[in-house]
This record gives sequence, C-alpha cells and structure tokens, in this order.
Amino acid sequence: MVEGRELAETRAIVDRTFRVRRITLGAFCGVALVVLGVPGFPFNPVFAVPFAWLLLTLPFQWLLRRQRTLRSLQNVHAAFLALESALVSYLVHRLGGVAWVGVLFYLFTVIYANFFLPPLAGYVVTGIALFGFALVAALEMTGLIPHYLPFAGQAPPHQDPVWVVATILVGGFGFYAVLAFTVRAFATMYERRRRALAELSARLLTAQEEERKRIARKVHDELGQTLAAARWALAGGDPAEAERLLNLSVEGMRTLARELRPPLLDELGLTPALRALAERFATSTGVVVEVEGPPGRLPSEVETALFRVIHEALENVRRHAEARQVTITLDRRRGAVVGEVADDGKGFDPHRAGEGLGLSGMKEWVGFLGGELHIHSQPGKGTRVRFTVPVHDSRPHRR
Ligand SMILES: Nc1ncnc2c1ncn2[C@@H]1O[C@H](COP(=O)(O)OP(=O)(O)OP(=O)(O)O)[C@@H](O)[C@H]1O
Ligand SMILES: [Mg+2]
Repeated sequence: MVEGRELAETRAIVDRTFRVRRITLGAFCGVALVVLGVPGFPFNPVFAVPFAWLLLTLPFQWLLRRQRTLRSLQNVHAAFLALESALVSYLVHRLGGVAWVGVLFYLFTVIYANFFLPPLAGYVVTGIALFGFALVAALEMTGLIPHYLPFAGQAPPHQDPVWVVATILVGGFGFYAVLAFTVRAFATMYERRRRALAELSARLLTAQEEERKRIARKVHDELGQTLAAARWALAGGDPAEAERLLNLSVEGMRTLARELRPPLLDELGLTPALRALAERFATSTGVVVEVEGPPGRLPSEVETALFRVIHEALENVRRHAEARQVTITLDRRRGAVVGEVADDGKGFDPHRAGEGLGLSGMKEWVGFLGGELHIHSQPGKGTRVRFTVPVHDSRPHRR
C-alpha cells in the first residue's frame, strides 16, 4: 500500500547515489586526464576504469528514472550492481588481485545491494562480487591470468607518483567521501520516514479526538434533545408530536451512522456510495453534482480512501466554493484509478491558501495508498482536485 511512496523515495535516493558516483568518477576522470597528460607520468590502464564506470552509470540512471514499479526499479538496480561488480572484478585484477585497495571496491556494491534490493537480489549481487573476487584470485594463482603489480618495480611506494595519486583518489575520495555521503543519505531517508510517521500518528490522534467530540456533540445536542422532547410530548399527552420527534431521532441516527461509515460503500462499492453522497449533497446545497464512476469494485482500502477524499473535496465546495455545479469523475487506467472533483466555484490560489486539515488529509489518504493528489485552482476559475492511486489488485476485497 505504501509502495508508491517507497518507489518515489527509493528512486530519489538511488538517483542521488548515481549522481554522487558520477561526481566522484568525474573527478577521477578529470584527475586521470590531467596526470596522464603530465610528460613522463607512467601510463597505467587502471586510469581507464573511471571512464568505463562513469559511462556505465549513464544508461542505467536513465533506465532507473523510467521505472514505474518498485520491483522493476529493483531489477534494473540489481542489473547495474551486477555489471558494476564485473567491472570491479577487472579493477581488482588490475590492482594486484587480492592485494591493495581493489578489494575495497566491492564494499560499495555490497552496501548498496543489500540496502536497496530485496534479500534475494542483494545476496545474488553479493554472490557475484564474491565470485568475481574469488575468480580473479584463483585465476591469478593458477597463472591463467597475469598478476599485476601496478605500483611495484618502481620507486618505494610512498615515492611512486602513481601509487600516491591512486591512493589519495581511491582512499580519500573514493571511500571516505562517498561512504560518508552514502551513510548520511541512508540516515536522512530513515530520519524523514520516522518523522513523517510520528507526525502522521500525532495528526491521526488529534483528528480522531476531534471526530469523537463532533459525534458526542451531535448525539448530545441533536439526538439527546429530540428524544427528551419526545418524552415531554408523551408525558404531556401529545402522541402525534412525540411520534414526529421520534421519527426525527431515527432519521438523525441513520444520518450519523451513514456519516460514520456509509453502508453502501461496503455493500455496493465506491460509485454507488458516491452517487448517494452526491444526491444528499445536492439536496442540502442546491449544487448540481454529476458522478461518473468506474465499473466494478476496487480494493476496500482504495474505496475507503477515495470516498473520504471526495467527501472532503465536496465539504470544501460546500464551505468555500460558491459553486453551481460539481463533477466527480473516476476512471480506471492501467494499474491505477484516476479521478477528479471539479467545481465551477470561485477558486483560490493553492500556493497562498493556508492548508487546513482538509487538503492535507486528502493528500495523506492518497499518499497512504502510494498515489498523488494535486489541486488545480485559480481565483475565479473553479477548482479541480485530481488524484491517481495505483491499484495492484482488481479483485474485490470484501470484509
Ligand atoms: N473547492 C474550493 N473552492 C474554493 N476554495 C477552496 C476550495 N477548496 C479549498 N479551498 C481553500 O483552501 C483552504 C484550505 O482548505 P482545507 O480543506 O485544507 O481547510 P478548511 O476547509 O479551511 O478547513 P478544514 O480543516 O475544516 O477542512 C480553504 O480555507 C479555502 O480557502
Ligand atoms: Mg476543508
């Protein structure tokens, strides 16, 4: 249900890890170009790797941005990490097999894979990294591929410019800077989620308490007083008046029950429940309401959320819009329900208007389902509340 939010968050953070890879690798490439241009600086093929690595990120970042489900995003990410492992295996080989820092390159691949991917894909990428590492070691040991000593045979290591440059680049930028960024990005993501959850539960508690107050007031002021008046009418020998008051109470109780949870929503689904809501709204306000709904049932949490969202949008029309007509449209598109509540009222500037609980609650409901909600409005031009909610399962969910 929170898949949509998770998809957007994961995509944003994976995108950032790609960007930081590109910045780091771009810096590596820049330095490589400079040092390779210094006359007499020994050429080392290891310096070609940042270019290949940088190139590899480009098509994958493009692909990652286009994924619309968490699963496909994870698959593309896993494919990238697997290819990255292969590239790193080459790097390990060129950097002296099991020796020196080549080994550490796997750190990132393994951290990323096990943080972002589902367990199986994470283990597969880890397996590829381990396999690549073991393969290089074994092939070098048996002499099937040569063992490179990239920095040996020249000056002592700390005086060898290639060794020093590579150590600073890889150790300094490659690990500390990128690792610091990565850990911080993870921490930020969790902190944001934690804060959002804490805020949500606080708001839910407040809203629940408000709702209880409203119901208590309604039961006390309307039902309680009407029933008390009916008792007085009976005691005063006016059964006709008592009956009228009792009928009022029954009607009031029905309205209250319907407001708490419209029975039509469970029995017949969203569209009939919306039609009934629209009818009552039209009767009490005089505003013409049209409902065009999708056929068939939706998962019950989607029906509930969309009903609440549309109910709130109608309440805003009642209180703020001064509209003559409202159109509620719901449509099924591939894997999603798209909908709109459009009024021809006075409109408002959504960037200026203070957000009450209504608009943010609507966004909360839709966000809870992994969807998106946007308000389009301008003073004098009416208001459109548009939303898209992913629906993964088209079977009706009945309680
Ligand atoms: N359909 C609409 N037409 C005109 N103005 C609107 C409409 N919907 C919202 N607004 C404006 O946006 C503001 C915020 O709406 P929101 O529902 O968040 O809060 P509210 O209705 O003022 O209070 P509540 O928390 O009780 O819903 C409103 O005060 C109103 O100015
Ligand atoms: Mg409101």
